[in-house]
Amino acid sequence: MSAPVRIGLLGCGTVGQAFVQAITEGGPTIERASGHRLEAGPILVRDPTRPRPGVDPALLTTDPEDVLADPEVGMVVELMGGVDPTSGFVRRALESGRPVVTANKQLLSREGDALLELAATAGTELRFEAAAGGAIPVIKVLRESLLAAEIDRLTGIVNGTTNFVLTRMRRAGLDYEAALALAQELGYAEADPTEDVGGADAAAKIAILSSIAFHTRVRFGDVPFEGIDGLHAEDVEIADGLGFAVKLLGVAELVDGAVSARVFPALVPHGHRLASVEGADNAVLLESPGAGEIMLVGPGAGGSETASAVLADVLSILGTQRGSFLHNALADAGRPIAPPGALRSAFYMRLSVRDRPGVLARVASALADGELSIETVLQQGQGDAARLVMILHEGREERMRAAVERISGLEDVREPPVVLHVIGNGDGR
Ligand SMILES: NC(=O)c1ccc[n+]([C@@H]2O[C@H](COP(=O)([O-])OP(=O)(O)OC[C@H]3O[C@@H](n4cnc5c(N)ncnc54)[C@H](OP(=O)(O)O)[C@@H]3O)[C@@H](O)[C@H]2O)c1
Repeated sequence: MSAPVRIGLLGCGTVGQAFVQAITEGGPTIERASGHRLEAGPILVRDPTRPRPGVDPALLTTDPEDVLADPEVGMVVELMGGVDPTSGFVRRALESGRPVVTANKQLLSREGDALLELAATAGTELRFEAAAGGAIPVIKVLRESLLAAEIDRLTGIVNGTTNFVLTRMRRAGLDYEAALALAQELGYAEADPTEDVGGADAAAKIAILSSIAFHTRVRFGDVPFEGIDGLHAEDVEIADGLGFAVKLLGVAELVDGAVSARVFPALVPHGHRLASVEGADNAVLLESPGAGEIMLVGPGAGGSETASAVLADVLSILGTQRGSFLHNALADAGRPIAPPGALRSAFYMRLSVRDRPGVLARVASALADGELSIETVLQQGQGDAARLVMILHEGREERMRAAVERISGLEDVREPPVVLHVIGNGDGR
């Protein structure tokens, strides 16, 4: 029997408790499969009096030194979240040569490059499977299974809260506020859902995933994002009638050799595989000329689900401690980051117009000035309250933005147009 591996924990909340339970309950299986007996503790928390089922209170501490300076601790698992003071603790652990496993997307998407470098210098490892896609083993697939495959596009539904809200808006006809309230009631949304509904959570995850997929450091600040908080129930309903589901997507791809990574709500045809990902599930679609299309779907959050990905990282480190071929040098391609407007996409546009002769022609001409053309147009109503809904062929985003300005200034256009991306509509995506 091998010597036990003592795992120091930073944080023991939803995921931390599930992780401790997983190594306690799964102990014999883990030992049989890996040859290692895992032991948890010391465990850093803020409030040691809080009940934590399945966790021995004697292991809890409020002093980070009890974890970071304990010579018995062979590996550190960070599940406290946030950037400060977490970053300092993770750095200390890596500097001391201990491997670190984390589920922290905020930290990774902001400081991942520096932390990976630190790990490499200290001759240790930093793993973060649970930081993007929760229980879905997408990082492992990108780092190992697709190591030799060039990825040219990664499209993800990486935020379960927004996917739940959008599913309810479409299926139950709820407006945004009612769908969000339901998500909060059922535990799919935080009391403060700003990071989720505003798109920042998805942007952090897309930064991490595109760094791995394109072997290039993509930071949180490199990923422009929009959320679903400005989305109207009306557009979800019209899109549904036209054969599309609305999804909050993270899209990362190579544009003229540069990495373009974005988060935005988009229309996805009902027959597209991402359209069928409903409720709080996450999915990542990987497209590679060599490996084809690979889609991974599963729970993007949840205590025990996330803990299973954390545990997999722990076992992978123990299994590859000697002779790991992965190392941390995952960003050596050094591709530039594409400017946000470089993205190409098809678009949905909804306009409120006065129904006068020539309105559609003037709108079409404003679009044509940006080399944008109309695939489908639908007019509803007449007089001063007419509605024009258009699906446009693929064009450059920056040209679309300029066309929106021109259209907003046209006579007989009553409000700035509502514009959403459309993907998977046979236009190259
Ligand atoms: N929950 C999920 O489904 C999920 C999914 C994917 C990734 N993640 C990531 O996993 C990490 C943990 O998430 P969680 O949901 O388990 O969070 P959580 O329930 O809020 O737990 C956080 C833990 O960290 C401790 N903590 C926080 N700040 C601290 C500080 N300054 N000093 C000492 N202890 C501190 C808390 O102590 P107290 O218990 O004493 O308050 C608590 O035990 C986050 O990075 C999150 O983004 C979570």
